[in-house]
Amino acid sequence: TKEQVAQAVLDAVAANGAIKDTTGFTVAGEAIAQPVILGALNSLKMKEMVDYTTLAHDVLTLTDEGEAMRAEGSYEYRFWAALPAAGDAPMPPAQAAQVLGKMSGLGQAQAMKRKWVTKTADGWVRAAEAVQDATREALAPASGPLAAPSAAVLKELKSRKLTKLTKITSYAVTKGPCFTTEMKEELGEITAELIASGEWETAPLKKYNFAAEGVLPASGYLHPLLKVREEFRQIFFELGFTEMPTNRYVESSFWNFDALFQPQQHPARDAHDTFFLKQPQNADLSVVDPALIERVAHVHSHGAYGSLGYGYDWSKQEAEKLILRTHTTAVSSRMLYELAQQKPFKPTKLFSIDRVFRNETVDATHLAEFSQIEGLVAERGLTLGHLIGIIHDFFKKLGIEKLRFKPAYNPYTEPSMEIFSWHEGLGKYVEIGNSGCFRPEMLRSLGLPEDVSVIAWGLSLERPTMIKYGINNIRDLVGHRVDLNMIRRNALPRFD
Ligand code: PHE
Repeated sequence: TKEQVAQAVLDAVAANGAIKDTTGFTVAGEAIAQPVILGALNSLKMKEMVDYTTLAHDVLTLTDEGEAMRAEGSYEYRFWAALPAAGDAPMPPAQAAQVLGKMSGLGQAQAMKRKWVTKTADGWVRAAEAVQDATREALAPASGPLAAPSAAVLKELKSRKLTKLTKITSYAVTKGPCFTTEMKEELGEITAELIASGEWETAPLKKYNFAAEGVLPASGYLHPLLKVREEFRQIFFELGFTEMPTNRYVESSFWNFDALFQPQQHPARDAHDTFFLKQPQNADLSVVDPALIERVAHVHSHGAYGSLGYGYDWSKQEAEKLILRTHTTAVSSRMLYELAQQKPFKPTKLFSIDRVFRNETVDATHLAEFSQIEGLVAERGLTLGHLIGIIHDFFKKLGIEKLRFKPAYNPYTEPSMEIFSWHEGLGKYVEIGNSGCFRPEMLRSLGLPEDVSVIAWGLSLERPTMIKYGINNIRDLVGHRVDLNMIRRNALPRFD
């Protein structure tokens, strides 16, 4: 074991003051491989019991041919040994050729040169009664590296390709500042007891290893919603859309509702559907362009741009109320106002994917917060046909091709369409989104030119995610009941 090797190293250093070279180091007569010695040295060095340097040297080792010769003798010896003694019937040439086998001419030539064998008219016999196999002897003592033979022998071994040079790493070991032959147990941590008893001052403590890599923490996995969001982002980018800044969960009623021509008495603005802020309660609308507020107030109260309006007294206090945004169209209204400020008008494609909040009863498919995906295109002369076309393009990228549209109502779009897609599993069309052309009451108030239309559509992020990951209850996807292993295990979704 490593402990035994470490102990043997300590004992050897104690006995001789140092170990000059760990080559051939043995423990209880057993040779220890250098990597094992290194392991023991490292743990001793950590405790400052020893120090070591690395030695690199070339050693002579046998080639496979050399190994075979060491075991069975040189070719010339093997040939000589196979032959009959002088005076006996010689070995016929054909048989001798067989014995020589793959030693080819070498065994024969060397044996002849040494005058160990002779050839008669009938074949081969020994010429010498006894021979000394010097080649084998030169190889013999070698177990592992060769003891240095004389230069002449070395030259011959090399020319016969019986030896080769091998690089070997070994170590020179000296005493460290805390050298002792006693392996003491080191403490991994300081306990309350050690501190209370004062033992910590003298207790042998394990050195802190700052180079240790540590266990990789199981963290940093993306939630399925983030993975699916990324898929949608890529689709929008492929279609040439730009992402809108969505970092505004708290929004004024003005941008969430009023600027969208959503009447102030609309049920969606009720506390049952919308979260209102208590502190602070109101937004500071003085930072909003007064002309914009004026146009919004006017179109709600009296109508404009060919619309009769709602005919009620628009209240600025109502528009000031701070809420958690109920849809990402609040972001779109801000962005469309920004767009209207840029002259001349530039056709624009925008998208957003982020959190919205609704004061709804939580059930298996609804949470009080969820994410919306929204895309819009602003351009001159857009029609409902363009909207249907781009929705087809968009869903095609998700692998959804069978779409149907159903007329619907939104306060801020006209016409409005719910989007249905064919669900193979359910065998029917299911609603997957909402869409429409923003009303002139909204666009003209925001300041866009008369001939600019904006088509837009929206869908939830949670629904496609649940379908992709086979999750039936939204509370298994979002919230405190979520199984973290589900997040760790799940691969990226593929829409193909
Ligand atoms: N804002 C709508 C919703 O909350 C979705 C939508 C977006 C509808 C864009 C029409 C146009 O459902």
